Amino acid sequence: MAERVALVTGGTGGIGTVICRELADKGMKVAANYLEGIDDGPAWQAAQKADGYDFTVVAGDVSDFDSSVAMVKAVEDQLGPVDVLVNCAGITKDATIKKMQKEQWYDVINVNLNSVFNVTKQVATGMADRGWGRIINISSVNGQKGQFGQVNYSAAKAGMHGFTMALAQEVARKGVTVNTISPGYIATQMVLAIPEKVRDSIVAQVPAGRLAEPSEIAWAVSFIADDRSGFMTGANLAINGGLHMGP
Ligand code: CAA
Repeated sequence: MAERVALVTGGTGGIGTVICRELADKGMKVAANYLEGIDDGPAWQAAQKADGYDFTVVAGDVSDFDSSVAMVKAVEDQLGPVDVLVNCAGITKDATIKKMQKEQWYDVINVNLNSVFNVTKQVATGMADRGWGRIINISSVNGQKGQFGQVNYSAAKAGMHGFTMALAQEVARKGVTVNTISPGYIATQMVLAIPEKVRDSIVAQVPAGRLAEPSEIAWAVSFIADDRSGFMTGANLAINGGLHMGP
């Protein structure tokens, strides 16, 4: 079988980097998308190479439809059609609704939710036509339970799973699965940016009593991307140390 091609949006970020490595360890050709001006894709690529990982990097703004079209085309030109898409790009702009500016709402909805349409639209039909595919949306525990100061983020992350359940039904007969992973609080820059006092109070509520490592999320991506996971679709995998337990 030809090597599978994986695209990870936000692939140079805290969770994205470890997902890229996990999929490469699984024998896939991996492209990491990054946002020029915010992340340094080429420097990231060089650092990964020094650790023995040969990744393709593709610039592109996933909150913008046309940029997403060009970004996916660049991946396909270099590596071939995308078999595994991990929608991992995400930002926070936390504020209570009293203080939240409209840009904080639209930016988070555009980057975290509209991006999922913008990028998935470019690859889902091709996966279905070829009869195999994996679409994995990285959501959040806060899309399941809500979070003080995150009406924007919680709405976007809950929306991702609605997208997952709808698309899962459209492509289920074509060998393509669509699933959500909802991480809890992971030791990344995003979480370390929360004021320490607030962060400590959140960690105190986690039954596991700690933040997760990014590898604990990447491992689930590898599991979903596996050939043996073809009957799992439309699911929402909670990986949150017990912070939220639901049906
Ligand atoms: N529940 C109830 N009340 C709360 C509260 C909570 N969780 N947190 C704060 N409050 C109260 C405060 O006690 C305070 O009350 P008083 O006015 O009576 O004193 C009031 O709300 C205002 O709180 P702040 O001083 O914190 O308000 P702020 O404007 O300075 O900050 C905030 C608001 C930016 C939202 C800040 O609370 C914050 O950063 N919270 C953390 C949000 C969070 O968890 N973000 C997750 C980011 S990581 C991520 O999202 C990854 C992932 O997927 C898990």
